[in-house]
Amino acid sequence: MFNRLKEKWNVSWLQFTLIFCTFALGGSSCARLGSYFLNLLNLEKSLLYYIIYIPLITILWPACVLLISIPLGQFSFFKNYLQRVWSKMKGEKQNIHYLAIFASGAGSNAAKIIERFKNHSTIKVCLIVSNKKEAGVLKIAEQNQIPTLIIEKEQFFSGDAYVAALQKHKVSFIVLAGFLWKVPEKLITAFPNKIINIHPALLPKYGGKGMYGHFVHEAVIEHKEKESGITIHYVNEKYDEGKHIFQATCHVEATDTPEQLAEKIHLLEHRHFPEQIEKLLTDI
Ligand code: GRF
Repeated sequence: MFNRLKEKWNVSWLQFTLIFCTFALGGSSCARLGSYFLNLLNLEKSLLYYIIYIPLITILWPACVLLISIPLGQFSFFKNYLQRVWSKMKGEKQNIHYLAIFASGAGSNAAKIIERFKNHSTIKVCLIVSNKKEAGVLKIAEQNQIPTLIIEKEQFFSGDAYVAALQKHKVSFIVLAGFLWKVPEKLITAFPNKIINIHPALLPKYGGKGMYGHFVHEAVIEHKEKESGITIHYVNEKYDEGKHIFQATCHVEATDTPEQLAEKIHLLEHRHFPEQIEKLLTDI
């Protein structure tokens, strides 16, 4: 049972334990506070007592749990959790986000994103899009039984930019994870503020046309930078110039080769990209 919950919440065992402690401490402090308030009213355990007690506890419980979650570092988990409970109570349909991942290469980022959202209740990876028939990411899609779409230059840049095909797959959010073509305006207009990219450097440095993969890392090393990192940003009509969402940094040693730096950057990407996507989509 614990395993199933841990998987459903997609958290580490440490976070799972902290969540559990928050539930326990929140629950017991809520019960104590509830009895304390009712004692102030000097009520016997009568029908009236319970008529007041139940709504009181219903209000106190989320407040206690949220308060306790702050020192335990679980505020964002509980904020999302309570929002979901609240919308279920109101009978609202959960808003599902359907993700398309665009990638041209090996797809290690795509793999991490797919893994993160495998059993997610509101985020589903519904399509993998690639401009290269031989891209590794297509194997990953197949292994995970995710539909794929191979795109061609002509339709992407001069046709409808595959908007109709994406809509057919119900895509509501696009993640570029190592996608090497510029995104045409038609696609940006069809998905306003719904396309994000990850760049393997600290933008605005080392971005723009031709700045991808090893070219970025070579330039960083050549300029003797002490620090590099990743930038997750919205996509607009200019290469790597959209609004920043998140950055994380790593040290660049004087002895680092572009390959070693690429490895450090990949670690950062795998750690933060799926997490930031979830944060973005659950905060919407
Ligand atoms: C990543 O480093 C990403 O920042 C860049 O392309 C690379 C893709 O790697 N845009 P992978 O295909 O996800 O392994």
